[in-house]
Amino acid sequence: MIFPEYRPRRLRKNEFIRSLVRETHITVDDLIYPLFICEGKNVKQEIKSMPEVYRFSIDKASEEIKEAMDLGIKAVLLFGIPDKKDEVGTSAYIEKGIIQRAVRKIKEKFPELVVITDVCLCEYTSHGHCGIIKNGEVDNDLTLEQLAKTAVSHAKAGADIVAPSDMMDGRVGRIREALDSAGFTNVAIMSYSVKYCSAFYGPFREAADSAPKFGDRRSYQMDPANSREALREAYLDIEEGADIIMVKPAMPYLDIIKMLRQEFNYPVAAYQVSGEYAMIKAAGKLGYLDEDRILWESLISIKRAGADLIITYFAKKVAERLHK
Ligand code: PBG
Repeated sequence: MIFPEYRPRRLRKNEFIRSLVRETHITVDDLIYPLFICEGKNVKQEIKSMPEVYRFSIDKASEEIKEAMDLGIKAVLLFGIPDKKDEVGTSAYIEKGIIQRAVRKIKEKFPELVVITDVCLCEYTSHGHCGIIKNGEVDNDLTLEQLAKTAVSHAKAGADIVAPSDMMDGRVGRIREALDSAGFTNVAIMSYSVKYCSAFYGPFREAADSAPKFGDRRSYQMDPANSREALREAYLDIEEGADIIMVKPAMPYLDIIKMLRQEFNYPVAAYQVSGEYAMIKAAGKLGYLDEDRILWESLISIKRAGADLIITYFAKKVAERLHK
């Protein structure tokens, strides 16, 4: 049937009808709330390029998590900002590290909360690269040992899921092996499988103080021009033991989200990164765009493309809106 017998506008007549035929929904269950955790007490420090996003000391993070959980949020993703950095990122895996202490405290207060930890070295190394430097380059295999130690230390502290974001080859397999042999067979891996080398991470690097001091991340993060390679990366991670695969950033890579959804029967997460957040906020502030509507449309597009989970700095705001 075609026009004039068929009229698509019939099903757009009013909000009740539209909601009956709506294909994509966002629920609070889809959301993962990223948090930056720093040393000190009573710290809640706004990040300049990310208005309304803060670095929290552990005590303040607990207050923030309480608010998020009251809104129905069930999962957080933690990033650590240590006081001390060195060449090999020692503070990433020591028992008294910022994340290890934060996880212990948070799990003690909120045992049912899903605590996910970012596993990477860039916040902990003095040079800001995601791995160990040898002969001026990031050495893949040396880095794997540090990552495995970091993941196990997070699991020991009580993390439910570890999320390697370093993009070294073979890290998921090495981390799975290390977790299993330490007895953490039930700790899941959410792998940043398809992580592009993106300028959209700019504000994050200010937040986490993790910009590389020399060079860039092009020898380990993916070339934005490649999509077939995304399938190979995701395939490798699944073979190595990933439980959830992730695409990052989200909105500029909706085609990749869709491909992974169609190709693999695994949960797909999408990370709406710091630059996506900053763009929406900035345009809203300037009055160029309607922040709330742009946010909603961007999240719907990520869901529609096939993401099961969305990591977003807007998590609390979205949860608030879902309650209205
Ligand atoms: C660490 C890491 C980064 C992000 C998440 N984990 C930064 C980077 O790779 O430089 C970016 C998150 C964001 O921009 O919100 N490797």
